Order: sequence, then structure tokens, then C-alpha cells
Amino acid sequence: MAVERIGIVGSGIMGSGLAEVAARSGYDVVVRSRSKTGAEAVVTAVTGNLDRQVDKGKLEARDRDAIVARITATHQLAHLTDCDLVIESVVEDLPTKRELFSALEQIVKPEGILASNTSTLPVIELAVATQRADRVCGIHFFNPAPMMKLIEVVRPLTASDDTIKTAMAFATACGKDAIEVGDRAGFVVNALLFPYLNNAVRMLENGTASRDDIDTAMKGGCNFPMGPLALLDLVGLDTSVSILDALYAEFGDPNYAAVPTLRRMVAAGHLGRKVKRGFYEY
Ligand SMILES: NC(=O)c1ccc[n+]([C@@H]2O[C@H](COP(=O)([O-])OP(=O)(O)OC[C@H]3O[C@@H](n4cnc5c(N)ncnc54)[C@H](O)[C@@H]3O)[C@@H](O)[C@H]2O)c1
Repeated sequence: MAVERIGIVGSGIMGSGLAEVAARSGYDVVVRSRSKTGAEAVVTAVTGNLDRQVDKGKLEARDRDAIVARITATHQLAHLTDCDLVIESVVEDLPTKRELFSALEQIVKPEGILASNTSTLPVIELAVATQRADRVCGIHFFNPAPMMKLIEVVRPLTASDDTIKTAMAFATACGKDAIEVGDRAGFVVNALLFPYLNNAVRMLENGTASRDDIDTAMKGGCNFPMGPLALLDLVGLDTSVSILDALYAEFGDPNYAAVPTLRRMVAAGHLGRKVKRGFYEY
């Protein structure tokens, strides 16, 4: 299926990154947030990112203008009608996403593909909330979306080969390395990554080492570009707890049981970089 027009639902860290990637790759993009200001903030954020690249000489000003011109901001779902592919990237909460998929089912043209950027939730639950389960899949980007090379294309039991082929082709057209994964909580990357992140917080909790020393250890000892606590701040602590909860619910492995410190920090509103305070201050 030819994909030309992309809908993005959600204006958080990932919604904004997805809009930038798709517009940069030449697609027309409609970004929908619940509020007009939320949707417009995506355009401002993308413009700001591209401005920095123009300043560094990595992008021509006219290319920046063309990319931004391809993005339309809206607070109305109805503006997604003509999209060939809609990628949902709202809060990691199954009832919220299911409700959104039911609404998208009514609005997006019947041949349109509906995808989720969920990190851990069962994509099949979203597929069966629609009348087009064959045209629903996961397209899981990584954060920050413009920089990270990988996309996991998630195949729920109901997805057609054409849907998966189209999603893989879209990911490749965005300049990413695409892998196909089964519909299991955490897919490949988060299922392997989150026990490590969770155990880093456990080490901080039980006094094995300080915040800075834990991060220094994994950068110097494993050549990771950032330490686990800095990475949790980047992902968002609320999103991280949701991911761990979904992994624990599916596998029952104690390594996936979010340690108390993470939950307390979320309760305190210390959600990481997006609020300028998590394990670090920004
Ligand atoms: N943060 C990451 O590192 C990362 C990476 C890959 C995928 N994801 C996934 O992307 C999705 C979004 O995550 P994010 O990091 O951008 O989160 P975020 O907190 O930055 O943004 C969440 C968005 O959801 C919207 N939202 C909240 N409640 C809503 C509701 N009831 N109805 C509709 N919209 C609602 C918010 O307004 C906001 O636009 C999640 O499914 C997450 O698992 C996150």
C-alpha cells in the first residue's frame, strides 16, 4: 500500500519526534493533540530542533522550511480521515489507547493502517478494539526518535502480511533499521533493557553505589553512551513504571517489579527530563 499522509496522535516527547522523522522523510504529517496549543507546541519543538541543525550547518534553511510546512497541527481527530497510516503515541495506558483506537476506527478511511507506538502493551488489544484488526500493528520508535536507528514493527496475531510489509517499508523510508517482532510485552529491546534499568535503581536504593558512580560504571565498564539513571530520566519515570508494570503483568518475573523508589519519584512528580527533574536536575 502506498503511504503518503501520516497521522500522529499525541504531542509528548515521542509524538513530537515521530512528526519530525515523518516530515523529514517527505511525508505529509497531521499531528493531533487534545488541545490546539499542544498540537502547535509540536510544530514549535520540531522547528526548534531543525533550527539547531541549520545553525550547525547540517541542514539548509529552505529544507527546514519545507519540512515544517509538511506538518499540520490540529486538535480534531476528524482531520485524520485521509491519512494512509496513523501512529498513536499517547500515554502508555491500555484503556486510553483502546478508546482512541475505537475512535480512530470511525474516522480514518477504511484502508488506512492504525499503528501504536506502545512500548509494552499488547497490540492485539488495540486491534480488536477496531473493525479492521488486519490493518493494525505496532510501529515502535525509540527516544529520541530523530536520532535512534531502530524501529520494532510488531505483528499482532490478526495483522495481514500487507500491513506488516507497509509498516516495514515506512520504517525503512524513514531511514531506520526495522525488525519484525512478535506481540510480547516489551518486544525485544524493552524486555531486555528494563530489568537492567530497574536493578540500577535497586542498587541506588540499597546503597551499593551513588547515582553518579552507577552511571559512570556502565558508561566506562560497558561503553554505553549513557548510564541507566540518566536513561530513565530520558525515557520518563512514569512511562518507565508503566513499562515495568506491563512486563511484570505478562511474565511475573521479579526483575520486572518496579522498585519502590521509582514509584515514589513518580508520585512526587519527578518524572525526568520532561519536567526538568528526575534522578538529575535539568
Ligand atoms: N518515552 C520514551 O522513551 C518512549 C519510547 C518509545 C515509545 N514510547 C511510547 O510512546 C507513547 C507516548 O510516550 P511519551 O514518552 O511521548 O509520553 P509523554 O508523557 O511525553 O506524552 C504523552 C502524551 O499523551 C497525551 N495524553 C495523556 N493522557 C491522554 C489521554 N487520556 N487521552 C489522549 N492523550 C493523552 C499527553 O497529552 C501527551 O501528548 C507511550 O505509549 C510510550 O510507551 C515512549
